[in-house]
Amino acid sequence: MYVENASAPARKPVTVPSLHAMKAEGRKIVMLTAYDASFAAQVEQAGVDIALVGDSLGMVVQGLRSTLPVTLDQMVYHTAAVARGLSTTLLVTDVPFLADRDVAYALEAGARLVGEAGAAMLKIEGASPHILEAIHALTERVIPVCAHLGLTPQSVHKFGGFKIQGREHDAAQRVLNEALAVQEAGADLLVLEGVPTSLGERITRALKIPVIGIGAGPHCDGQVLVIYDMLGITPGKRPKFSKDFLAGRQSVSEAIQAYVADVRSGTFPAAEHSYS
Ligand code: KIV
Repeated sequence: MYVENASAPARKPVTVPSLHAMKAEGRKIVMLTAYDASFAAQVEQAGVDIALVGDSLGMVVQGLRSTLPVTLDQMVYHTAAVARGLSTTLLVTDVPFLADRDVAYALEAGARLVGEAGAAMLKIEGASPHILEAIHALTERVIPVCAHLGLTPQSVHKFGGFKIQGREHDAAQRVLNEALAVQEAGADLLVLEGVPTSLGERITRALKIPVIGIGAGPHCDGQVLVIYDMLGITPGKRPKFSKDFLAGRQSVSEAIQAYVADVRSGTFPAAEHSYS
């Protein structure tokens, strides 16, 4: 049974300005997904900076083949549960598929996920004109936005599968331009997924905002993984960019602590978890 953590917080709350300071000081940012209060409490105790309620929950919790069917109601439910397990960790949550249907929908997602459920920041995939408009509308209303570019899972049908992006020169330039555009629209953070290491490094250097990589090489300002992948319990083949941190360790909390230590020291990701 989950019991709320009554112990006093051991660190200052992680905030959007403190993440920007971490980038400026060259301190690596650690992000990890969580979908319920018990895992959120483990993530918090291990010293993770950002808990992400990813719409990956559609795949790893609900057993779906993609993230597309995940609904706003489901994201509100899981975000509220994770919020109850955290006190100092910054809570970021995904706006599900078609965040850009119109600005009114993005604002409704903001009201529900931030106002009702307790998130501090919304994550939105893509950089289409509608997405840039949504990022602008949210940040103008003081809702911080984490952009998400590269191998964006909500684009699975357009990409023809979960395929590495930005390998060719023009494609790399396109992802870089998108990254500059989301920053210009007001995003405070960028998740960069599934791109070659060289592009991860180029974009991290080009942006003022922190860049959190997943399969984007070791040079990003921080790293994110899906918690079930890094515990080695996601069914099927583990993605190349992930690592089983539970292997050889005694508990979930030890595994998450090892992930935090390896990201902070730059040991993870190694070349074997990256794309050339
Ligand atoms: O949904 C998710 O968990 C994500 C991460 C893979 C970054 O977007």
